[in-house]
Amino acid sequence: MKYVPEELAHDADEVRRRHRANQAAWDEGALRYTEGVAAAVASLRAGRSSVHPVERAALGDPASWCGRAVHLQCASGQDTLSLLLEGVREVVGVDISGRHVDNARAKARALGLAATFHHCDVLDTPSELDGTADLVYTGRGALNWIHDIRAWAGVVARLLRPGGRVLVFDAHPASWLFDPEESTPVWAGIDYFAHAERSHGWTAEYIGEVVEDPSVKHERLWTIADVVQSLIDAGLVLTRLEERPDEFWNAFPALGDEVKRMLPMTYLVTADRR
Ligand SMILES: C[S@@+](CC[C@H](N)C(=O)[O-])C[C@H]1O[C@@H](n2cnc3c(N)ncnc32)[C@H](O)[C@@H]1O
Repeated sequence: MKYVPEELAHDADEVRRRHRANQAAWDEGALRYTEGVAAAVASLRAGRSSVHPVERAALGDPASWCGRAVHLQCASGQDTLSLLLEGVREVVGVDISGRHVDNARAKARALGLAATFHHCDVLDTPSELDGTADLVYTGRGALNWIHDIRAWAGVVARLLRPGGRVLVFDAHPASWLFDPEESTPVWAGIDYFAHAERSHGWTAEYIGEVVEDPSVKHERLWTIADVVQSLIDAGLVLTRLEERPDEFWNAFPALGDEVKRMLPMTYLVTADRR
């Protein structure tokens, strides 16, 4: 019997409504990235990859196995284009924010790099890409914006060519349990098993000067079991699962490093299409 929690059976219209709201919010958030495009191009030109060391270790030597990588939720394309520095031969990015995709295209143009960017919901990733990816790459603040994890896993599976691999390195869902304002781990009142939703706009500190009245964006807690089992149900074979203290952003600024290294901050999953 397949593992399909009741709560995952979301109303498709409600899923799309949340994704459209997230699109509006991320278009606002992308304005900050637009300010940094010139610096980001200079960094790539200098050969600095933004791929995380945990991801790099899991990727091995991409030059030896990865022709095409599809980066789902690629934002302004910094990690997408960094994959080329890591040895991937061709990259394709997908993001729901038109402003992020414009930034990504501008970077690729400035650097003359072989990259294609699609502006769409990850659930609508063009079928022309089906069966073409050696690597589907995603994470670092990605799956929490997706409101149908099984549909997401179906997209991953259809993109991979036989023998291809998905790599997810993302925030550990247990990090939802702790209050980010506290200097010791204090339960934030979240039910880990309820597929909790968090809705909020950008903080004034982040976006205040450029957007006066930020749109509300919606996040969802997917447990590691939700993600892994959705990939398995989509036909993939799990090849690696790690839970880690490593961070990709400072989500708990008040917590000391000594405490953080004892908490699960991130996880990494790889799975193959056989
Ligand atoms: C925190 S960022 C991920 C950043 C990424 N790790 C990087 O730096 O390249 C989340 C991204 O997900 C995108 N996003 C959110 N919901 C999406 C959806 N349904 N389909 C496609 N992209 C989506 C947002 O526009 C944003 O660019």
